[in-house]
Amino acid sequence: MSPDDVTRLQIGNDVQIAGARQAVREAAVAAGFSLVEQTKIVTAASELARNTLVHGGGGHMELQAVTVAGRKGLRLTFADDGPGIRDVDSALSDGYTTGNGLGLGLGGARRLVQEFTIDSTPGGGTTVTAVSWARSGQRVPR
Ligand SMILES: Nc1ncnc2c1ncn2[C@@H]1O[C@H](COP(=O)(O)OP(=O)(O)OP(=O)(O)O)[C@@H](O)[C@H]1O
Ligand SMILES: [Mg+2]
Repeated sequence: MSPDDVTRLQIGNDVQIAGARQAVREAAVAAGFSLVEQTKIVTAASELARNTLVHGGGGHMELQAVTVAGRKGLRLTFADDGPGIRDVDSALSDGYTTGNGLGLGLGGARRLVQEFTIDSTPGGGTTVTAVSWARSGQRVPR
């Protein structure tokens, strides 16, 4: 793996969420994501950034382009020092919310990317990592 530089963006208000979305869109274009793939990763990033702000009380996103065996991808990490998630399995299920949302964001984000991990403990904050690969529906040429 040859990792590129990590870009770190604060997630503390709506303007910063819009900036994070834009940064993910640009990185996806640069990594050769199709329009559909761009939309998927941007939508996932938008939901995760909103959770970081609304539930986590703000935090940051790290954005990194990665290349494995010639295939390009994006790794997004959202981290906050908020209350954490008591029951991650419940949080991932559609319709579960402790707020005023629809409870679709977290599970929806997971379905939109290829790799997805949640690291959270009550009182210990939350870190969500999502990875998507360009042209993931196509065979790797050899
Ligand atoms: N960063 C976080 N910190 C603490 N709790 C979180 C975090 N992200 C998600 N959660 C918990 O997981 C639940 C489910 O998240 P999800 O994004 O699916 O739904 P929502 O944000 O409540 O509503 P929606 O995203 O549909 O507007 C949240 O209600 C919240 O309890
Ligand atoms: Mg949400």
